[in-house]
Amino acid sequence: MMIMTNKPTTAPQRFLTGITTTGTPHLGNYVGSIRPSVAASTGAGAESFYFLADYHALIKCDEPARIQQSTLEIAASWLAAGLDPERVTFYRQSDIPEIPELTWLLTCVTAKGVLNRAHAYKASVDKNTAAGNDPDADVSAGLFMYPVLMGADILMFKAHQVPVGRDQIQHIEMARDMAQRFNHLYGDHFVLPQALIEESVALLPGLDGRKMSKSYDNTIPLFAPREQLKKLIAGIVTDSRAPGEAKQTEGSALFQIYQAFASAQETAALRTAFDEGISWGDAKQILFERIDQEVAPMRARYQALMQDPARIEAILLAGADKARRLATPFMQELRYAVGLRKLGAQAAVHNKAKSAKTGLPVFKQYREADGKFHFKLLDAQGQLLLQSHGFESPREAGQAIARLQAEGASALTDLMPNLEAQPGVTPEAVLSALALLHSAVQ
Ligand code: TRP
Repeated sequence: MMIMTNKPTTAPQRFLTGITTTGTPHLGNYVGSIRPSVAASTGAGAESFYFLADYHALIKCDEPARIQQSTLEIAASWLAAGLDPERVTFYRQSDIPEIPELTWLLTCVTAKGVLNRAHAYKASVDKNTAAGNDPDADVSAGLFMYPVLMGADILMFKAHQVPVGRDQIQHIEMARDMAQRFNHLYGDHFVLPQALIEESVALLPGLDGRKMSKSYDNTIPLFAPREQLKKLIAGIVTDSRAPGEAKQTEGSALFQIYQAFASAQETAALRTAFDEGISWGDAKQILFERIDQEVAPMRARYQALMQDPARIEAILLAGADKARRLATPFMQELRYAVGLRKLGAQAAVHNKAKSAKTGLPVFKQYREADGKFHFKLLDAQGQLLLQSHGFESPREAGQAIARLQAEGASALTDLMPNLEAQPGVTPEAVLSALALLHSAVQ
């Protein structure tokens, strides 16, 4: 009998990251996250998942209108910056009901003590303690559970690499621990994710020279209209050196922001101008023109998208559809793994596995007129359960069958892009047929 134990080595690396929908994207978000992510998503051999983490937003924000507006603005920003929803999977977290469902399964394998040590929660507790308050004063259970929801986001899609800021590394480590614990208890279901920290991406300073961040109220909105952008840039802190006096590049917020947009040559030219005593007013004009040059074409796309929220909604729903093609069968597999099983299917596995071989579902391989190699899965009564797309060689089709037989439901998620569900056949029926075969081949 053919049993494949090795997964294909050509599996592409999967990248996944979430953006909490509580604010308006600013230049810091663009330089630190949007721009590098969009660039990475166009590379070959990568599979990218980007999502709007609106369930996470509820932890921080209880203003419904702001959540909705921010979701719209962030989606429009990513699309305007060139994210291609055909190439990547771009979706809204709350369109995937499997995420909260998985959150519960992970909650049950996560030690409370580990969550006690999560930075965001611990910071609140420390602050309360220092103020002499009850340690958990004003701390929601949502904040406490934040890392588990994030673990579900990541593990659901078997992400290998999770591009995040340094403040999120601990959360990725926790997701790894959850995956390990679950795999240990219930079998090998989850990929262990890794945090991906972009060393080359500089932190962008804000108007006051501190890190650009909504919490410091020092941001420059990415798609501020041209005039407003100019005004905001005029407000960047500088020292009081007069025109003609040499300026320091080190510690200059203006210079650092310029560097994040300019080429090496342009940066060198501004450095020379600093040495030669360019006035702050002229330096700000140069910075403004440079940023506007990069942002203007995106701003036009952004404004068009913001005029057409229904189009964004449709894009997100199509993304959710794509995501759920993975999430739905995977969640079925996980439910089965932990014992949330159809009682009928369970009895069937038990009885039929012991009965004659003729009682088993079968795979049939065949060649179509187009020259491609296909297979189908029939149940014991001959009903069609699953049909494959065409494979280039009989070997590839055979390997897919072998994986479905040997690994059962867990292979189904991976292979789903090559398979076609049959109308009227429930996912349970397919899973229970695979479970039957699985138990028969072991
Ligand atoms: N917590 C992340 C942040 O605040 C957002 C996020 C939610 C996320 N789920 C995720 C990031 C999953 C990466 C992977 O930045």
